[in-house]
Amino acid sequence: MDDPQMVRFHRQYMQQIQHPTYPPAKLLLEPDVQEQLYKHFFDGPLKGPATYQRRVLKQIILLIERVIDDPDEDAVSDQLMEHMGYLSTLPTDDPATEASRTQIITYILPEPLETKAPPRILIEEAPNLLAAGSNVGLRTWEASLHLAQYLHSNPALVRNKTIIELGAGTGLVSILAAGPLRATHVLATDGLPHVIQSMAKNIHRNENIILPPASTSIEAKVLDWADHDDPSSLEDTLSLENAECPAYDLILGADITYSPDLVPVLAQLLKVLMTDMWDENSGRRIEALISATVRNERTLSVFREACVERGLVVEEVEYTCPRVKEQRGFFHEQAFPILIMRIWAP
Ligand SMILES: C[S@@+](CC[C@H](N)C(=O)[O-])C[C@H]1O[C@@H](n2cnc3c(N)ncnc32)[C@H](O)[C@@H]1O
Repeated sequence: MDDPQMVRFHRQYMQQIQHPTYPPAKLLLEPDVQEQLYKHFFDGPLKGPATYQRRVLKQIILLIERVIDDPDEDAVSDQLMEHMGYLSTLPTDDPATEASRTQIITYILPEPLETKAPPRILIEEAPNLLAAGSNVGLRTWEASLHLAQYLHSNPALVRNKTIIELGAGTGLVSILAAGPLRATHVLATDGLPHVIQSMAKNIHRNENIILPPASTSIEAKVLDWADHDDPSSLEDTLSLENAECPAYDLILGADITYSPDLVPVLAQLLKVLMTDMWDENSGRRIEALISATVRNERTLSVFREACVERGLVVEEVEYTCPRVKEQRGFFHEQAFPILIMRIWAP
């Protein structure tokens, strides 16, 4: 596939985004484009769940049918029509099943659309999960994709750095850092053991982009923010192989500032990591990059205030992410604004 509109559409389809950018109908009408569609989107073992395929193929057929002037000349290909017929025979998930079902989602890195075989990260998750609660870490949230875009555009922030991610959920950002962005070591943490288990499987699933030729290591460990308001309790979790004391450069976090009850403990943990655990002799200074979906301005202010009360500086990073139609990977809508905060101890 060479047409950039088709490449973007295919990348969005692999990520199963709800509202992909359909190429113009006139392009979809072309027989060789329909052949590519069949081959790359629908042929072979089911690429994505039937419900998603059906929704996308239905829209493709609708778009093509709208621009057919002469039915003797133009048509929807037999392959696409037959596949639609096949998909129609498959059972439809009820919304509750669809919301909890896990799938392997392919996140393609936002490389130029001309790049052949850009790196991809495979994440098993429940992409349609809406509810909060203990399963909130079992899907990848928009703030993670936003942070991933930002880091991908600023790779020097990560390269050769030692990184800890808080509330890492499915592990997408940590895997990106450890793999394509070439951090030296990544400790991906989350408060819930079952989230860590599923994250560890995702790390394993992406070993091909993390292991050689990189010399990175990545591990997943439980770290509950509420359990760590003093440095001694953190030493075991943070211990680095081959290092006497923890020496992290960068703390990452995405969509972890959503609960007013949790933001004070999170701010306290940041303070402990940045000041109490800081080794003066290491010459390294820890800073944090936290991306936040602003669902509620109040919660974010509570977080900012909690950081400032603990002597930390919070600054908003200037970054405007392109809209979905212009994104090339890590696709995400911004139903609520997403911002990135840089936090450090002066
Ligand atoms: C909204 S999800 C974000 C997950 C991931 N960063 C993303 O953006 O896709 C919030 C994450 O914070 C984790 N979390 C919630 N409370 C926590 C706590 N007290 N300690 C550590 N992690 C916690 C959840 O398990 C979940 O993985």
